[in-house]
Amino acid sequence: MQIYLDYSATTPTSPEALAAMQAALNQQWGNPSSLHMWGQRAATILETARMQVADLIHAPTPESIVFTSGGTEADNMAIMGVARQYRHPQHLIISSVEHSAVAEPVKLLEQWGWQVTRLPVDNKGRVNPLDLQAALQDNTVLVSVIYGQSEVGTVQPIEELAKITHGSGVLFHTDAVQAIGRLPIDVQKMHVDLLTVSSHKIYGPQGAGALYISPGVELLPLMVGGGQEMGLRSGTQAISVIAGFGMAAELALQEMPTETQRLIELRDSLFCQLANVSNLIPTGDLIQRLPHHVSFCLKNADGEILSGRSIVRQMNLAGIGISAGAACSSGKLSPSGVLMAMGYEDKTALGAIRLTMGRCTKQADVDWAAIVLIQIIERFKGMKLSVASSQVS
Ligand SMILES: Cc1ncc(COP(=O)(O)O)c(C=O)c1O
Repeated sequence: MQIYLDYSATTPTSPEALAAMQAALNQQWGNPSSLHMWGQRAATILETARMQVADLIHAPTPESIVFTSGGTEADNMAIMGVARQYRHPQHLIISSVEHSAVAEPVKLLEQWGWQVTRLPVDNKGRVNPLDLQAALQDNTVLVSVIYGQSEVGTVQPIEELAKITHGSGVLFHTDAVQAIGRLPIDVQKMHVDLLTVSSHKIYGPQGAGALYISPGVELLPLMVGGGQEMGLRSGTQAISVIAGFGMAAELALQEMPTETQRLIELRDSLFCQLANVSNLIPTGDLIQRLPHHVSFCLKNADGEILSGRSIVRQMNLAGIGISAGAACSSGKLSPSGVLMAMGYEDKTALGAIRLTMGRCTKQADVDWAAIVLIQIIERFKGMKLSVASSQVS
């Protein structure tokens, strides 16, 4: 039996998205910038997809959607696109639990002399709006706070944060890659200026994403050339993957009311089944939370280490795909920066684990995963640090 519980990493491409991609590759393969009928057929596919993505987030116009290669590019476009308008370094505010697609471009700006405030979070991973209010300065040009945190599932009070930011006349960006298709998003009600989405988290293909840019907000492009995508992203659009993304967005909007509730029930059932494991601490906000997301840390007794990566490998041997929050570089385990920002100590943060559910997940999958996980954790208990760390490749 194989059970995939890593829908936050990526989702399988839906048959409908695949069919849209195949049709585009077979029949609408023209260059959408060409004036002839081949070009116009491709342009129709492109603009249909733009409308489908705009509908998913209730964007005011399809033209406020700029297609990119994915969430990472859209995040970079938002941050660098704002920053590049200034001749001299200014001030930016992000949270201390951003995805690397936001955190890394901001680090780069910092190296170039920009001032950066990283808002602290509480032990549930939530930003306090009062901290944002206090951090805004005269030279702040952008605030970026992740919508739904990928490692711990916490959902931020985006509408409130955007309101505070606008009160100072500053632009607000949110990375909604984990939230779209899972939570209803209305960019107009939330008053966000910039919002990042990605296709492969909503059963579309990898390699497509978009940045929503509120009408009137000016960005400088990262890529220049033929001026496609309203001059913000030059290069011939990847029509087939964009067609798949559009179809995925349409389906996500249709299924959200029922699917979100189903996922919440699966999520809560899994948390419930794991509740009695003595050294397991749920992470993130259990209420303001992504519907499909279960995460926790394994608290180690002295001299023991239950690393998340070891558990992931054992689960994989049992045919179950989950993920760990800790990163491994040069054979050395480093604890999750997100959990460290939430106040967890190194040893505990190394035991971070995430199980994320999706369209194909059934109650029986969750029940079996819980049984196997509990057995693995029990087996690992008592293993000494030296033994477990020798397993890290
Ligand atoms: C919150 C968040 N932002 C950005 C990204 C990057 O998106 P993409 O893989 O489409 O570049 C991810 C991917 O995991 C993510 O979870």
